[in-house]
Amino acid sequence: MKMDLPRPVRVSLATVLALFALVRVNYGRYPQDDKSAGQTEKRPWMNTSLSPDERADLVVKEMTLDEKIDLLHGNGMPGWGKPRPTAYLGNGGAGFVLGVPRLGIPIIQMSDAAYGVRSSAENGRYSTALPSNLGSAASWDPVAACEYGTLVGRELRAQGYNMTLGGGVNLTREPRNGRTFEYMGEDPILAGTLVGNRVKCEQAQQVIGDIKHYAVNDQESGRNEVSAVISRRAMRETDLLAFQIGIEIAKPGAVMCSYNAVNGEFACENKYLLTDVLKKEWNFKGFVVSDWAGTHSTVKASAAGLDHEEPFDHFYGAQFKEAVQSGKIPLAELDDHVHRILRSEFAAGIVDNPVKKSVVDAEAGLETSRKIAEQSIVLLKNGPGVLPLDPAKIHSIAVIGPHADTSMISGGGSAQVDPPGRPAPRWLEHVWFPTSPSKAVTTAAPGADVQFDSGTNRESAVALAKKSEVAIVFVYQWTSEGMDLPNLSLPENQDVLIEQVAAANPKTIVVLETGTAVTMPWLDKVAGVVEAWYAGSKGHEAVANILFGRVNPTAKLPMTFPRSEADLPHPNLVTPPPGVGDHGPEGNERGAKPAFEVHYDEGLKVGYKWYDAENKKPLFPFGYGLSYTTYAYSDLKLKPGKETTVTFTVKNTGSRSGAEIAQVYAAFPPNADEPPKRLVAWSKVRLNPGESKQVSLTIDPQFLNVYDENASAWKLVPGSYTFLVGASSQDLPLQQKVTLQ
Ligand code: BGC
Repeated sequence: MKMDLPRPVRVSLATVLALFALVRVNYGRYPQDDKSAGQTEKRPWMNTSLSPDERADLVVKEMTLDEKIDLLHGNGMPGWGKPRPTAYLGNGGAGFVLGVPRLGIPIIQMSDAAYGVRSSAENGRYSTALPSNLGSAASWDPVAACEYGTLVGRELRAQGYNMTLGGGVNLTREPRNGRTFEYMGEDPILAGTLVGNRVKCEQAQQVIGDIKHYAVNDQESGRNEVSAVISRRAMRETDLLAFQIGIEIAKPGAVMCSYNAVNGEFACENKYLLTDVLKKEWNFKGFVVSDWAGTHSTVKASAAGLDHEEPFDHFYGAQFKEAVQSGKIPLAELDDHVHRILRSEFAAGIVDNPVKKSVVDAEAGLETSRKIAEQSIVLLKNGPGVLPLDPAKIHSIAVIGPHADTSMISGGGSAQVDPPGRPAPRWLEHVWFPTSPSKAVTTAAPGADVQFDSGTNRESAVALAKKSEVAIVFVYQWTSEGMDLPNLSLPENQDVLIEQVAAANPKTIVVLETGTAVTMPWLDKVAGVVEAWYAGSKGHEAVANILFGRVNPTAKLPMTFPRSEADLPHPNLVTPPPGVGDHGPEGNERGAKPAFEVHYDEGLKVGYKWYDAENKKPLFPFGYGLSYTTYAYSDLKLKPGKETTVTFTVKNTGSRSGAEIAQVYAAFPPNADEPPKRLVAWSKVRLNPGESKQVSLTIDPQFLNVYDENASAWKLVPGSYTFLVGASSQDLPLQQKVTLQ
């Protein structure tokens, strides 16, 4: 029977039918509840007594070419380029990979998760914001790093993700890098140890872990076109060492190759980085995922060791299939990529325990976030009798600074965690978390008259400071992916605000909310300085707990704060030449060759090693941080050997309990041609007043090696080594020589 319907209705019926067919087809292909899953007789790879590699091999044998290609690429990212027909299968994260439902292989749902799970607002979810990664590195604490990873892993799973894209560990070689807050500071051994523990514990929550951006992605300016020029030795002992250590500890399922090139070859098609070092030397068993639109080729990238393209299939979709069919890419190479992806899925547990969404445990998250913030906040300056503030003795407090009545700043870009109670932030929006410093100060000092002034009108801020017993100035520096800072000064004339407040009130305390180092022209004029970094969902309370002494600060700087940009290895940031940087709507028109170079001639001298070697006095050195108690070091003993042991005693000589981060550095013999010293070990020593503890640290032999470019191997340079022990890279009271061979 012919239905005589008006045309518009006919069209929409057809559309409905077509959509219905599409959904049926897709549901047919991606069953939501695969009843046959778990039947080991039909699916021998579901036998959990087999290793992830054995299980992956069994699956690879069953797969068709198309199924294999499906695993090699992403399917678009919300808000970037044209949505793909499969977009509905995504979970709202930065990428997803089709599974093989017929074989019980789930979709990989990836999310950025640097200091918490990204994109929660647009997906109607909630995420805890932890302190920035750099801030957490100031704890120097692998246990805190583990708690950090556990929390992020748990919240990823609760939100329906089974893979994280967190785990940034690029070294702070260029402190103006807008992503410095996403990384773990300037020392490869500290950064690598912390990122390793973070990702290890994140993976323990059954998400595929990731370490990024491999490698030498040390600035954002021209990140898609720049080639980092650096010697192999320098690279191996600095930037790559952080990755090596992190990968050894975490055994991450994935490593993300970076946008930039290294010595002329883009990282995502750089055979030296991906195959020779990562897969062969370090025995990395997981898969290499490209940074988003960081793939530049098919055959070359595949041969170099790139396993997976995100978020599109420009090179690893139809082109890859054609290259396999025409023999340009050997089948074994394709199978290796597929094997690596599958084994990471088995190793992380996402096949055996598919993700089930649940409500994020917000309260537990807030508690963890506050505790980690308290271990991350560095007390930089404390004039006599200034901090901690005694709420019983103070009658009036001025809280001054932009937003200090309502909120604290967070770091931007793909790391951005969305604050609760507001719509999703725009890209590069300054995002203030609803963590009110003035409220936290009011709560901590209930008997005091706490008044706020934004500082926009400096006269009124100065007047308030003048009539208050204490002035606390909260200042900020916003940083983000996609930009570098022009300099390390506080923006918005905040230096002038601090100067003027300090002139009006001798008890002025500055609280820094920064993503990297800042210069402090006013340092001599203020009574106290506290570095709070981007402090996360409970930053205000953590800061108040430090200011009022409920928590004794323990954190130490994971990066040097220079006096001025002129003291940096590169006083001027190297920026791309004009006209460079237009890559088409999906980034797929990126060049085949990098367009400019940045020469890392400082080589091994990253961070404190530069200041040591060049005899430059930093504003605050690496490893520095004060406490409300004091410590004394004594009795250094060395036991050289295959594994050298360093033993010493730390005593709490003050009147409060605390934890001291005791640091061990090694100065190499002159013919090793190393910077003056290298951090080789540390320990966080908890001590009650008057208590002493003997600390014994065994040094990892590789940390006493240098990389020999000619032999492509690490080696010990025999000779006389000095071990230096103390409270920071510039305060090393214990020193002793020993011969190592
Ligand atoms: C960033 C990565 C991030 C990815 C996905 C890229 O722009 O460099 O760190 O994981 O986007 O959001």
